[in-house]
Amino acid sequence: MLGFNPFSLEIHAFLRRFERRHYLIEPCRGIAIFTVALSGQQFAPSRPALSLRCTQISLANLWLRAPNSCILYLMSRDDALNDLIEFLRFPSVSADSQFKPHVESCADWLLQRFEKSGLDAEKLPTGGNPVVLARNNHKPGRKTVLIYGHYDVQPADPLELWQTPPFEPVIRDGRLIARGSTDNKGQIFAHVMGVEKRLQSKGDLPVNVIFLVEGEEETGSPHLEDFLRKHQAALAADIVVISDTGMVAPRVPTFTYGLRGILCLEVRLTGPAVDLHSGIFGGSVANPATVLVELLAKLHDEHGKVAVPGFYDRVKPIESWERERWATLPFNDQAWLKTTGASALSGEEGFSTLERVWARPTAEINGLGSGYQGEGPKTIVPSRATAKLSFRLVPDQDPTELRGVITKFLTQNCPPTVTVDVIFQHQGKPYLVKPESSFGQAAQRALEKTFGQPVAFIREGGSIPITQSFKDILNLDTLLLGLALPDAKAHSPNENFPIENFEAGIRLNQELLEEIAGLK
Ligand code: BES
Ligand code: MN
Repeated sequence: MLGFNPFSLEIHAFLRRFERRHYLIEPCRGIAIFTVALSGQQFAPSRPALSLRCTQISLANLWLRAPNSCILYLMSRDDALNDLIEFLRFPSVSADSQFKPHVESCADWLLQRFEKSGLDAEKLPTGGNPVVLARNNHKPGRKTVLIYGHYDVQPADPLELWQTPPFEPVIRDGRLIARGSTDNKGQIFAHVMGVEKRLQSKGDLPVNVIFLVEGEEETGSPHLEDFLRKHQAALAADIVVISDTGMVAPRVPTFTYGLRGILCLEVRLTGPAVDLHSGIFGGSVANPATVLVELLAKLHDEHGKVAVPGFYDRVKPIESWERERWATLPFNDQAWLKTTGASALSGEEGFSTLERVWARPTAEINGLGSGYQGEGPKTIVPSRATAKLSFRLVPDQDPTELRGVITKFLTQNCPPTVTVDVIFQHQGKPYLVKPESSFGQAAQRALEKTFGQPVAFIREGGSIPITQSFKDILNLDTLLLGLALPDAKAHSPNENFPIENFEAGIRLNQELLEEIAGLK
């Protein structure tokens, strides 16, 4: 195995300097991956300890911490994978302003990476985080494909549940593990590498490409609609492509034709001016935490339906062809339940799991806060209680309309013993498109060629708020060609992305551009 990698000898020598070591060198499908397990040892690798040639390895990939044994991902001979690992090292969390400098440097990195691929790239300001745009040399008479993705990620919390640090990518069992590996850095970077490979092999792309990679998707893309309006001319295209959705199962090519929309609100209840002694004052004033849970309990009825009047008024019924198609998918409740780790499935009565998730709206409590959360007891009537809520919406529900309806419901159901504020956070429309357009069919051929299997047609429960805005503002349909596995753990600890999906994404991009170029 040792001869497998040109750097292996240096690394071997490097590692011999440490006592009580043992290490393995694993070849992984043409990619050299060094997996080093060190027993009972802690050390911080230092630059001079590596030979010159070894410093070509991204030293940043060195990760060593665990007291007993640990896995050290040293390097890969595959440039695409190495670069994705670099991309993943930026903690580009958009929700938390503390990460703003990393968001900026991640955008800078991406800009330079596009330039390295031979594209014209620019970093453009928005009211929030910058957008990175890149384009090849556009030629008249060719189709123009707008490839959208996001370089921002969800917060990595709770950190203690990660087996390895979220921004120190490692590879385990063929999967790259890091925050953003699936959602969305791995998927958008596969498109970048697809374009780069094609430029390298043929000197040109068969179509005009515009990459639009934003930094605020995970907070609802609050500035992107304005950006689309402002740069409308520069963004003129024939179709949008997004890889930021799921695959129904490993190696099953998946065409997503619908997404849920979203509305996020925060409810803040205020009772007494400060936290009060619950012995002295308890029983004489309303407890905002109690009022809040009573209020939130009113959101659903006993059949799992959202009890806000008018909530379902515009919900499109599921069509019979969809029910038929979904029934043939490689899906079962048991496996789904196992992925969730919950003790039983639950939801709106009268609908299957897939129907509930893909085509029915929901109300969720995403976070609750009130009173004392530290160790031990504390006897108070809290002054405030807050809840973060999200509503997943389906066609043809309108988030703006429902914002009013739900705000009214919450305020009207709140007793006068507390004051209530409903604060809008963000919203995005649901999306639904006919799968059989000529672009849809081109995408399906590309998916089938890439994976060698018939295509699954699905909707998704997640939201990509800008998708419907592409239609409304730029009059463009979107092809949703996702590469995320059901157990990708997006938004959860130990998010992961299989290397084979990354490689498939690179091939898919090339097949897709070819198919689109062939359209009349
Ligand atoms: N990639 C997801 C959207 C997604 C997830 C689509 C799963 C299909 C299946 C995207 O990055 C995301 O998480 N979006 C947020 C949007 C929200 C914060 C406005 C979501 O769905 O929660
Ligand atoms: Mn996401």
